[in-house]
Amino acid sequence: MTQQNYQSVIDEIKSRCSIVDIISPLVQLKRAGTNYKGICPFHNEKTPSFVVSEAKQIFTCFGCGASGDVIEFVKRYHNLTFPEAVERLALQCGISIPESYGEQGKKKEGYYEINRQAARYYYSAFSGKTNPGLTYMIGRGIEPSVLKAFGIGYADDSWDSLSGELTGRGFERNMLLELGLVSEKNGRIYDKFRSRVIFPIINTRGKVIGFGGRIIGDGEPKYLNSQESIIFQKKYNLFGLNLTRSEIQKEGYAVLVEGYMDVISLYQHGIRNVAASLGTALTQQQARLLKRYTEKVVLCYDSDNAGIEAALRGSDVLRKEGLDVRVLNVPQEKDPDEYIKKNGREAFLALISKKALPDVEYKIALLKKQYDLSDTTQSIKFLQKISGILRTLTPVEADLYIGKISGEYRISEGALRREVQSGAGEIDLSGPVRPEAHEKPEETAKPDGSSLSLERMLLRLILLRSEYLEGLREYPEAIITARGMRILTVFRDMFTEDSDLELEAVRDALDEEELEYLEEILREVQVGEKDEEAYADCIAKLQERRLEKRKKEIIDLLSLAEETGNQSQLDNLMKEYMMIQQMQKR
Ligand code: UTP
Ligand code: MN
Repeated sequence: MTQQNYQSVIDEIKSRCSIVDIISPLVQLKRAGTNYKGICPFHNEKTPSFVVSEAKQIFTCFGCGASGDVIEFVKRYHNLTFPEAVERLALQCGISIPESYGEQGKKKEGYYEINRQAARYYYSAFSGKTNPGLTYMIGRGIEPSVLKAFGIGYADDSWDSLSGELTGRGFERNMLLELGLVSEKNGRIYDKFRSRVIFPIINTRGKVIGFGGRIIGDGEPKYLNSQESIIFQKKYNLFGLNLTRSEIQKEGYAVLVEGYMDVISLYQHGIRNVAASLGTALTQQQARLLKRYTEKVVLCYDSDNAGIEAALRGSDVLRKEGLDVRVLNVPQEKDPDEYIKKNGREAFLALISKKALPDVEYKIALLKKQYDLSDTTQSIKFLQKISGILRTLTPVEADLYIGKISGEYRISEGALRREVQSGAGEIDLSGPVRPEAHEKPEETAKPDGSSLSLERMLLRLILLRSEYLEGLREYPEAIITARGMRILTVFRDMFTEDSDLELEAVRDALDEEELEYLEEILREVQVGEKDEEAYADCIAKLQERRLEKRKKEIIDLLSLAEETGNQSQLDNLMKEYMMIQQMQKR
């Protein structure tokens, strides 16, 4: 869930559930004037000094000093973290939390398990004895070891072999439906993948999140893919990356292709730094995912018009992520799979080094094909188009290309420079839009911006220096979002006394949305030179916040003490209030 609706859940809880209703099943309360009284659950006592105010929606104990709102009570009583308390209360008052800390993780595990077992089922059908799927893949020249590495499977032609197997093992049909493994008609379920070669889609944490199924031979649809589900969001994943990411790191670049078979085929021919965007338009999230492993991408989509279009758009997405992009169209053949099958590894590597063009040059080369440069009018049009592209670059880059292009296409350098600077030329070629125009407005209306930025700063600092984890133990309120909580838990799990946190291991332990949050923090939170100072600053803010919170509490408690006529309590509260104010002055 977003931070935004997390806060609204908290507000909703506070407005919907009465503190008296929540406490009374746990502590015997008796009405006392406008308030309720009982034996304090937080310390040992015989005479009741625990007061609950319906009007103010707070509790306080005049014996031990415990006090706070309904969330605080649940937190203390059940010994929970803040997000856990929120979750528990939300459940109790029937407020739905779309995604919450803990529960959601457990729920997802169930779905992963189903997919894992489905993948195993398809795999054993594929590798046990001869079957049309295996015959087809062997016919396409894929070796058994590669088929095994990718966990390729086979879905037979029956309507209920997978569903029978999985329901037989006790899995709920609703979950199978949600994962898109089965469909429903007239109250009966049947297998969605039939007579297909199965490509399990596995994320970088090794979880099977979905499947692609290729028809054997010709037919429609050629590939059937799992629908989006709670564990499968296409936009966050790249096919093959689970196997190839270390190779991508090692080689220093990734080859990004369109299809399942392109990945498998390149892999078999020794190009193992490869991944596929799953046939959809490349997303910003996928670009970010790649950026975890490399700074350079060779975009090698199909050579047809759709592939070229997709490459133009994809290169913008990658560039926006700060990646160095080259674009390669394989000559003669339809796609990288067919090219490497025919020409082999060395030829493909030669293409990458000789024919892959930097994104800008690729765009310009495409443009050039559309204009007759011996014609003056068309030359001017061409010049304007180029200027449109160059204007999206940084000044230094633009300058570089101005020199290069004017030489190559025999355009006056001065004219090109003026055109670029004038800003009059239109921008086109279905692609290069200025970065600002790309920018979607981020969700800005965040509830409590300063708490959120404090959380983000602290998480960032812990990544710089694990020892801050210890200090933060005293301030559990510092982490307010469910995602932040999850990330902190992972930090704690991974932290050992003698080594700093390994970012890569942390990333692997997070799910897609948590990871997105972490990446956002890494991107956007600047710490500066002195991390100790930044940390001290955070702690000071947290302390200040506690003091402010306590002051508000005291004001409520003062009126409560007045009602109950508790003079010594009144005096103590006044003293405490004044002390806090003095501390704040200092
Ligand atoms: P292609 O049509 O180029 O298929 O689609 P391909 O990769 O060359 O597959 P083969 O070699 O014919 O087996 C590229 C990618 O687009 C997605 C798939 O991810 C595919 O690998 N796609 C394509 C679909 O999801 N559904 C389709 O019906 C077709
Ligand atoms: Mn193909």
